[in-house]
Amino acid sequence: MIEIRRILAGDVPEALSISSVELGEDYLSDTDFLEAMASQEIFCNVAVEDGRVLGFAICRVFGPDEEPEVLGLPECPEREEVLRVPRSGILDSVAVSASAKGKGVGTLLCNRCAEDMRGMGCGLLCAMAWKSRTGRTNIAGILRGLGLSETVAIEGYWNRMVDSPEGHHCPECGAPCRCYGVFWFRTF
Ligand SMILES: CC(C)(COP(=O)(O)OP(=O)(O)OC[C@H]1O[C@@H](n2cnc3c(N)ncnc32)[C@H](O)[C@@H]1OP(=O)(O)O)[C@@H](O)C(=O)NCCC(=O)NCCS
Repeated sequence: MIEIRRILAGDVPEALSISSVELGEDYLSDTDFLEAMASQEIFCNVAVEDGRVLGFAICRVFGPDEEPEVLGLPECPEREEVLRVPRSGILDSVAVSASAKGKGVGTLLCNRCAEDMRGMGCGLLCAMAWKSRTGRTNIAGILRGLGLSETVAIEGYWNRMVDSPEGHHCPECGAPCRCYGVFWFRTF
């Protein structure tokens, strides 16, 4: 049976190895998972089966002041919506191991995260979804299922999320990454 629960220190190596393959080697470090364990605003849920980590989702609850750091949207009506809401929740990093994909693990993880963030008082739920140059968004079905709508797309968005001067080493298109970050959201 698949269990969804908060990440524990012993899960970090497996979660990090899923992240390296699915999101790129430079995207998350063990510090990101450890920070999620220690924080009030950031949390990480993992899907576990028979003691094995199948996937994870890192989420963050944030206020209007943190919009530039968390999202960095351009001037647009969607940004105004975020600035209007006192507490928003973002599905920040979601990844499922290659052998567990397509079996509902991502859906289970994201549904639980959405429930958790609603329970934490969020009036808006959002995600910055990775979209390939060819228009594929792996997580689109899950976000649609949660009632989120696709809005503004920012080309090369993921290069901002890493420190390296050459940009993000994208598992799909290399460095610098030329894929899009697309803002999806819904209000409650
Ligand atoms: C995106 C990602 C997290 C989805 O995880 P997943 O576990 O494969 O997701 P699910 O199985 O819950 O859902 C994926 C699809 O399988 C379908 N599905 C759900 N349950 C299923 C089941 N029991 N059997 C078969 N298919 C199922 C869903 O309808 C969904 O279809 P759709 O998206 O085409 O509408 C995963 O593909 C991944 O890690 N991708 C690489 C990293 C990535 O892109 N992360 C998101 C960054 S924004």
